[in-house]
Amino acid sequence: MSHRKNIVAGNWKMNKNYEEGRTLAREIVAKLKPSETLAILGAPYIHLKGVSHIISDINNLHLAAQNCHQEEGGAYTGEISTGMLRSVGCDYVILGHSERRDYFEESNQLINAKVKKTLADGMLPIFCCGEKLPVREAGDHEKLVAQQVKEGLFDLSATDFSKVVIAYEPVWAIGTGVTASPDQAQEMHAFIRSLVVDQYGEEVADATSILYGGSVKPGNAKELFSQPDVDGGLVGGASLNAADFLAIMDAM
Ligand code: 13P
Repeated sequence: MSHRKNIVAGNWKMNKNYEEGRTLAREIVAKLKPSETLAILGAPYIHLKGVSHIISDINNLHLAAQNCHQEEGGAYTGEISTGMLRSVGCDYVILGHSERRDYFEESNQLINAKVKKTLADGMLPIFCCGEKLPVREAGDHEKLVAQQVKEGLFDLSATDFSKVVIAYEPVWAIGTGVTASPDQAQEMHAFIRSLVVDQYGEEVADATSILYGGSVKPGNAKELFSQPDVDGGLVGGASLNAADFLAIMDAM
């Protein structure tokens, strides 16, 4: 049997001001049930310290940043280092999100550097991959995701790789209300796991959590999460509402 973690991670993106973010975290803390499933809140940078205080007593609730810089520090105006994130209680960093790849032109190589920096500072990457609609329509989605995963992750040692959470987020399903079907999600997750088997072996692959992201809602989460290779979700819009986020946790 697999011993990988089930995870529901919220990605708040650029939403909620500071007080609204703290209120959302408090609402989640008030109702979160003790569970084997790990909940992660991916909050904007300025919310991290405040949210960290609110969630600190809850065992299965952790904090993620949505990005980081790959350098140690120095003259990078406006950027945030992994050391800064660690110092405010951050455990995870979401990296390679399609919005970062698209709007900020992040390459597989840059994301790889951020993954390594995150690991070096003792945090765990949530590594995102996924294809756009024309790529899927051309039948090239596995090829593209394989390239993202290989170039983003596969020069890590097995020990480092085993700390990474992978999130498959088909770009056509993000924020669109169109979710991948459970079969489409399962097919890609199994494919990603097979890549990990080839590179790191069965044991590491079996322990790797692969989350699905893209219009996960309380109404579709159970069916998605019931797929054998879907180990949870990376949730955008529905993570901005405590009741919805908690309902998705319950679906795990
Ligand atoms: P939605 O759940 O809003 O589709 O966003 C998914 C996502 O991008 C999470 O990182």
